[in-house]
Amino acid sequence: MPAVRYELRGDAAWITLDQPERRNALSDALVGELRAHLAAANAAADVRAVVLTGAGPAFCAGADLKAGGIGAADNPFVEVLKTVWEFPKPIVGRINGHAFGGGVGLAAACDLTVAAESALFAFSEVRVGVIPAMISVLCIRKLGIQQAMWLFLTGERVSAARAVELGLIHRAVPADRLDATVEEVLDLVRLGGPNAVREAKQLVRRIPELSVDEGFRWTATKIAELFASEEAAEGMRAFVEKRPPRWAAKP
Ligand code: COA
Repeated sequence: MPAVRYELRGDAAWITLDQPERRNALSDALVGELRAHLAAANAAADVRAVVLTGAGPAFCAGADLKAGGIGAADNPFVEVLKTVWEFPKPIVGRINGHAFGGGVGLAAACDLTVAAESALFAFSEVRVGVIPAMISVLCIRKLGIQQAMWLFLTGERVSAARAVELGLIHRAVPADRLDATVEEVLDLVRLGGPNAVREAKQLVRRIPELSVDEGFRWTATKIAELFASEEAAEGMRAFVEKRPPRWAAKP
């Protein structure tokens, strides 16, 4: 039985963690398959966006506590987190249920994140005697030091609505609106030029890591490059001709 499902729905690749009986905990098999499916979605030219979700009542319960947690320093989960964070195409997190430990990290690594209102979020690591280690690299960037300190030290469970306030995710919606909201997000993304959306993601990831001078230098070069691109030529032509650009036109 596969631990992760991969499905093409139009131009979106849906990747579903599929071990609900163990709350999609990060077993070696699940992490390995997740990694392989992300690579496939990246390589597929017809895939414009990825939806990452879980089957069953939880999104992901973090490290596999029945297998002794996380061992080697070169744990492949690091590779998965980094891949999601830096993935060239937008990744929509469809957070169907609880996200604990590494599961919050995975949710936080996604670019556009919608959760069921019933989902709870917790950095529960201290409660089993460890720390939110690798996920802190991404989560402190999202939460800031103040909120990370609270959540990491207390392990407190917070609601999806609170996770939105904290900046961990974008939206919390009733469970029966989750799929419609994910489709709305995908439709919004489809309005942008595919290359522009990819570049916008890199912009958000990269700018906070650069100095102000480096940031201006890099973005001034980048914008000139994009204005000279075929995609922008089409976008500007479409604007002048008062029609949707090719990539956003309804078939
Ligand atoms: N690793 C391995 N198995 C896990 C797991 C994990 N992280 N989280 C849940 N499971 C297993 C449970 O052991 C249980 O198996 P069992 O049926 O053989 O007893 C099954 O999944 C269902 O778990 P349960 O706790 O009954 O589900 P729930 O829906 O009531 O609660 C959670 C879901 C995620 C809130 C809860 O399972 C939990 O707190 N998990 C641990 C999360 C955690 O601390 N992760 C950080 C690790 S550093």
